Amino acid sequence: MKTALIGCGAVAGNHLAAIGKLPGVEIVALCDIVPERAEAAKLKYAPTAAVFTDYKKMLDEERPDAVHIATPHHLHCEMACEALARGIHVFLEKPICISEEEIDRLTDAEEKSPATLTVCFQNRFNPATVVAKKLLAEHGGVACARASVTWNRDDDYYRADAWRGKKATEGGGVLINQAIHELDLLIGFCGKPISVAATVANHAHRASIDVEDTAELLISFDSGATAFFTATTAFSCDAPNFDELYCKDGRRITLVGQEIYLDGKPFPYDVPDGFSLPGKECWGTGHYRLIRRFYEALERKAPNPVLLSSAAVPVRVLLAAYRSSNAGTTVPIK
Ligand SMILES: NC(=O)c1ccc[n+]([C@@H]2O[C@H](COP(=O)([O-])OP(=O)(O)OC[C@H]3O[C@@H](n4cnc5c(N)ncnc54)[C@H](O)[C@@H]3O)[C@@H](O)[C@H]2O)c1
Repeated sequence: MKTALIGCGAVAGNHLAAIGKLPGVEIVALCDIVPERAEAAKLKYAPTAAVFTDYKKMLDEERPDAVHIATPHHLHCEMACEALARGIHVFLEKPICISEEEIDRLTDAEEKSPATLTVCFQNRFNPATVVAKKLLAEHGGVACARASVTWNRDDDYYRADAWRGKKATEGGGVLINQAIHELDLLIGFCGKPISVAATVANHAHRASIDVEDTAELLISFDSGATAFFTATTAFSCDAPNFDELYCKDGRRITLVGQEIYLDGKPFPYDVPDGFSLPGKECWGTGHYRLIRRFYEALERKAPNPVLLSSAAVPVRVLLAAYRSSNAGTTVPIK
């Protein structure tokens, strides 16, 4: 199978290292508007790949079976639609896009295409997530939950790449970028979100960004469960993500990073071999596991691991949270 990648920046190495471990998948082309970045990726991960600065030219000339999209957020929808229109399978970095209108465009493009789109929510497949979901089912599901993302990003981080910290190109701040994985997991634990009341603020990065660095959301689910979610990049360090799930039978499941506790006591579980790959701990370690599943799905050995429809849900929640914060009211989620 021939594959390609658009956007040879910080996260691209996670994709390319993962593809390199998959027999039968060849990286034939790399694209970045900064050619040196594509050349550096070629040198490290794919010595025979062709290098492009124009992704449409790459798709047309190389005709890959699949393409990975790891570019700034405002480019995701357009690039994915262009690939799908050419019948090329897409592995799309989170978030899928930055507006409701783009969700509709992507959905339409996927429906019309013979190709598949899979979204990079790798943390869904972390052993801790899978074990916690199983435990939750044994204890009757969620009555209420709280979760938080408390990380540190300094002004230099936001200034390093022009697209970061800007509504037009990032689509928002901590919610749409750093916290979307945890929001996605929370939704996976709690069910279908129906409304949100939220406040977003910029506490520590007024000099560098025009979006929120801090958010608090009260989310209601159709099961009757509620969840309180907080996120910030204004903390002093990258603390492990935290989830606490109060079960309907009165038990309490707590996740601190990849550790699980049941009623406050450690709950040991097996971590499969080969789980970890180099990469930032806070990004999770699951790119390889998810990318392997993506290619297995293309070979029809497994179902699509992360459907567009499910990956759209956290985006709808955070877009509703922005509207709620602006309006000062509870907002329904489409
Ligand atoms: N799944 C995860 O855990 C995870 C982790 C980090 C980043 N991400 C996501 O990956 C994406 C990229 O993030 P990053 O940190 O690597 O950003 P980055 O800025 O380091 O890399 C983006 C790259 O895209 C290139 N680019 C911009 N416009 C382009 C165009 N028109 N054509 C080709 N290339 C173009 C840039 O030159 C840059 O090299 C974002 O969506 C981000 O949210 C996901």
